[in-house]
This record gives sequence, C-alpha cells and structure tokens, in this order.
Amino acid sequence: MKLSTCSSLLALLVSHGRLACCQTPPGFSPSTNKALYASFDNLEITPGKHVPLADTAVSPSICFPGCGPPQDTHLVLMVDLDAPDGAANRSLSPLLHWLQQSIPARLPAISSNFSAPADTAVAPYYMPQPPPGSGPHRYVILAFDQPQKTFRLPANFTQFSNTYRFNFDVAKFAEEAKLTVAGATWFMTQNTTKV
Ligand SMILES: *[C@@H]1O[C@H](CO)[C@@H](O)[C@H](O)[C@H]1NC(C)=O
Ligand SMILES: *[C@@H]1O[C@H](CO)[C@@H](O)[C@H](O)[C@H]1NC(C)=O
Ligand SMILES: *[C@@H]1O[C@H](CO)[C@@H](O)[C@H](O)[C@H]1NC(C)=O
Ligand SMILES: *[C@@H]1O[C@H](CO)[C@@H](O)[C@H](O)[C@H]1NC(C)=O
Repeated sequence: MKLSTCSSLLALLVSHGRLACCQTPPGFSPSTNKALYASFDNLEITPGKHVPLADTAVSPSICFPGCGPPQDTHLVLMVDLDAPDGAANRSLSPLLHWLQQSIPARLPAISSNFSAPADTAVAPYYMPQPPPGSGPHRYVILAFDQPQKTFRLPANFTQFSNTYRFNFDVAKFAEEAKLTVAGATWFMTQNTTKV
C-alpha cells in the first residue's frame, strides 16, 4: 500500500492501536509512543517489522509527526541494538548508522520524502550490515526536535563520526544535547546468507 500523506499514515497507526505504546523496542531508552513515519522507498516501516536487507540500501524517507512550522528542524539518527553479532555479542551496541541534523519540518504539507543532503550528516547513512548467522538485528530510527538552527554535538559525542560509530549511548546523547524526542520507529533485518 502506498501512503501519500502523513495524516493518513497516522490515522492508520491509530486505527491499529499502534500509538498506544511503544514506538521503540522493549528496554530501549529513550522510549516514546510518538510515531515517526519512515519508509524504505515505498516500504512502510512499522515498529518491529522485518525488512529485507536489500531494501535498506538507501536511507529511509522520514515524515515528522505534528508537522511544525517551516522553520522547525529535526535531527534523525539510526542505531543497531544488536551489533556486532546479535544475541551472541552486543558489545558494539548501539552502533550508530546515521546521524543527520538540520532536517526541515515537512514542507509542503503532503510530501513524505526528504532526501537529506549528505553534507549535514554527522554520520552519513550506513546501511545495516548484520553478519550472516547473527540473526535479526533491531534498528531504531529516532527523530528529535532540534532547538537551534546550528546544532553542536555535546562534547562527549564529538568523537562519533563517519568512521567511529560504536557504543553510541542514545539516552545520554539526548540528555547532554538537551533534545526532545519527536518520534520513533524501529525495524528488524538480517542477512539470510548461510554460514
Ligand atoms: C550478506 O552477507 C554476505 C557475506 O558477508 C555478503 O556477501 C552479502 O552482501 C550480504 N547480503 C546483503 C544483502 O548485504
Ligand atoms: C564481541 O565482539 C567484539 C567486536 O567484534 C570482539 O572484540 C569480542 O571479542 C567479541 N566477544 C565475544 C565474547 O565473542
Ligand atoms: C517518495 O519516494 C518514492 C520513492 O523514491 C517516490 O516514488 C514517491 O513519489 C515519493 N513521494 C513523494 C510524495 O515525494
Ligand atoms: C562526559 O561524560 C562524563 C562521564 O559520564 C561526565 O562526567 C561529564 O560531565 C561529561 N562531560 C561533558 C562535557 O558533558
């Protein structure tokens, strides 16, 4: 099904009772019940959905709930909670796959796609790479309200970059950067190659 508007998706989520609780996986912090519409191409991401790995090659398009005034900006991140080897070894988790700042609120009203320019990314989108045999990995996509136009990473987080992405403490990041969660969703994907 192709959903062309944020409101129709939110209506659908409500009708399925998905806004009742938890747009984030059990145990994840910060948790939220605010929905974020994200989709890989036209594949809608609903909390906990299994997505074919090949479909995750390009960053998801994002639609912000609430759709604030045009000057509002957002910061979006994606983390793997099961890096490197799923249940067998999560020592690198959360692994930062994407940290993109200064994303404008959805404009015009209907457009649900924002292909963020790569130059505003702290950590450019890096597609999920769950090793074969490590089972499904959980990926959380979180959007925050970005209070200032020019966002500065908290001192303790400036080391995270395109190359260093391990053990990104999302709750601490949100706290130190004083960010409010605007919405979230999550999905699972795995590499089904036999080992
Ligand atoms: C799955 O893992 C194999 C072996 O590491 C790799 O060659 C392949 O590209 C991966 N599949 C996808 C869809 O990334
Ligand atoms: C877990 O993964 C890390 C990173 O790859 C590795 O250094 C460590 O040895 C692994 N631990 C176990 C118990 O396999
Ligand atoms: C969103 O992106 C998909 C895939 O690129 C495209 O087919 C669709 O037309 C886009 N929708 C809008 C509203 O831009
Ligand atoms: C960095 O983290 C440490 C340990 O959690 C904390 O004590 C310190 O206040 C933090 N520094 C900054 C600049 O946020």
